[in-house]
Amino acid sequence: MGALDSVARLVGNTPLVELKSLSPESGVRLFAKLEAQNPTGSIKDRIVLRILERARATGALAPGQQIVEASTGNTGVALAMFGRMLGHPVEVCVPESVYPEITQLLQAYGAKIRFVPRQAGIKSAVEVAQRLAVEEGSFLLNQFGSAENLRTHYETTGAEILSDLDQVDVFVAGMGTGGTISGAGRRIKEANPGCKVFGVEPRLGVHVQGLHSLDDGFIPPVLDESVLDGKIIVGNRHAFSHARRAMLAEGIFGGISSGAVLHAAMRAASRLKRGNVVMIFADGGWKYLGTNLWSVDDDLETVDKAEDPLDDILWW
Ligand SMILES: Cc1ncc(COP(=O)(O)O)c(C=O)c1O
Repeated sequence: MGALDSVARLVGNTPLVELKSLSPESGVRLFAKLEAQNPTGSIKDRIVLRILERARATGALAPGQQIVEASTGNTGVALAMFGRMLGHPVEVCVPESVYPEITQLLQAYGAKIRFVPRQAGIKSAVEVAQRLAVEEGSFLLNQFGSAENLRTHYETTGAEILSDLDQVDVFVAGMGTGGTISGAGRRIKEANPGCKVFGVEPRLGVHVQGLHSLDDGFIPPVLDESVLDGKIIVGNRHAFSHARRAMLAEGIFGGISSGAVLHAAMRAASRLKRGNVVMIFADGGWKYLGTNLWSVDDDLETVDKAEDPLDDILWW
């Protein structure tokens, strides 16, 4: 690769890596798309860059105008970086439960942070961001409502997967705004109509960074439920154990939601005789080093066999 004119050129075109040792059967292959390879370390660089570029091109975002957004972390970090690069002050509304590493990163990029109460959840962070946008005359990034979110994943994430792999039989991704699963899922299904698309959510009330339970009553406008064949609910224990499994078995240092996605994908893969299963690993493990994610010495086999009765596949 020659010299790049800016860090924005590093967004997307992330690697798709096979997790050979975790395949349940010889004909079943598991692949993870490693979104931690984006410049701020998560899949959110894709949508933030695109929304900002479009908004600047249409004039919806004026030069130097402040940008505000609600985020549980990764979008805020991506916005703090790209906002700064493009000359916009940034304010991010985050729940108090956000990991300290995210707060530190936001501060390091010079973003203003507005905390919302932990119990209030992402819906109220979105409402605070909407109110601030009006009061302060800021541009609202609006990841939960912007059609550009879904479009980004349709045109980039989904298209990249299809250019790496001819046949996708199962596609599994976490659901936060729903942009990844709806956009990439739609693109993959158009090419492989038989592909099953599963969205992963945490159990209601359980904190898995970046993911959101639809059972709290907030259905993001970006989510296109018609793309989904089912959703898989994952508890923290399995998310943690599978984040460790990806690291120990394949050297992949993914975040907690990547662990949740791996657990869900392995459940879906156990029903197959053959086929390609593609997963999105939305971020890396660095931000979660302060948790006991990597140090709990639960035996992985035991955690796996302990069927969690509340983990469930719901079909619709
Ligand atoms: C770590 C992580 N995983 C998954 C997601 C879900 O992505 P989407 O918002 O496209 O549904 C997010 C979103 O913030 C995230 O931060």
